[in-house]
Amino acid sequence: MNPLELSKAVGAFTDEDLRKAAEAAQAAQRTTVLVRELAAHHRSRLLKHFLALGEEDRLLRFGQSVGDHVIEAYVDSIDFDHDSVFGVYDEKLELVGVGHFANLRDNAQGRVAEFGVSVSKSARGSGIGSALFERAAIHGRNTSVRTLYMHCLSRNAAMMHIAKKAGMKVQYAYGEATPTWNCRPRTP
Ligand SMILES: CC(C)(COP(=O)(O)OP(=O)(O)OC[C@H]1O[C@@H](n2cnc3c(N)ncnc32)[C@H](O)[C@@H]1OP(=O)(O)O)[C@@H](O)C(=O)NCCC(=O)NCCS
Repeated sequence: MNPLELSKAVGAFTDEDLRKAAEAAQAAQRTTVLVRELAAHHRSRLLKHFLALGEEDRLLRFGQSVGDHVIEAYVDSIDFDHDSVFGVYDEKLELVGVGHFANLRDNAQGRVAEFGVSVSKSARGSGIGSALFERAAIHGRNTSVRTLYMHCLSRNAAMMHIAKKAGMKVQYAYGEATPTWNCRPRTP
């Protein structure tokens, strides 16, 4: 029994969840995206990926225009024991997609994490961003995170499309959007 059938059998998902999962599975079939978990020894590859992002992409990814030194400090500061970083390589073993799952807090409302993602321009539109998000959502569920959210500009059409397709709730304020994903499977 595959995980989807098992989930259905135990009633962990609603029909709406299953419809969305089927759509996601269909989209994933266009290419098989292999997502790997990265570690501290991948910092130089991460740096290369982020430094190659253009000005607009840096703005979309980090919420502000950031210079190379800010990116260097960000990559240096990633705590791989506390957070999880996922990556996708292309056939030349270049890191073309990165998702940073940052654990933020654990309080009475449950554990909260934030997800940031970027895909190299040349690799976009082939499912890498969606695959990284799906991996983050599964990781959140497996690590008992209750809420996973993202910070995006509301004009970020590709990211908003991925978020809505995944069924994230989106709140808008002052040109920013905060897609939020409830990692806990709904009970019937
Ligand atoms: C957002 C981003 C990660 C998407 O990566 P990607 O690998 O191209 O994503 P995917 O291929 O999985 O999916 C893109 C989807 O958006 C859709 N899309 C792309 N541009 C779009 C647009 N202008 N309007 C609406 N939908 C759009 C694609 O058709 C595709 O939809 P589909 O899966 O239904 O076919 C990438 O564009 C990026 O790195 N942007 C800069 C950084 C950023 O914005 N990060 C997000 C904030 S943290």
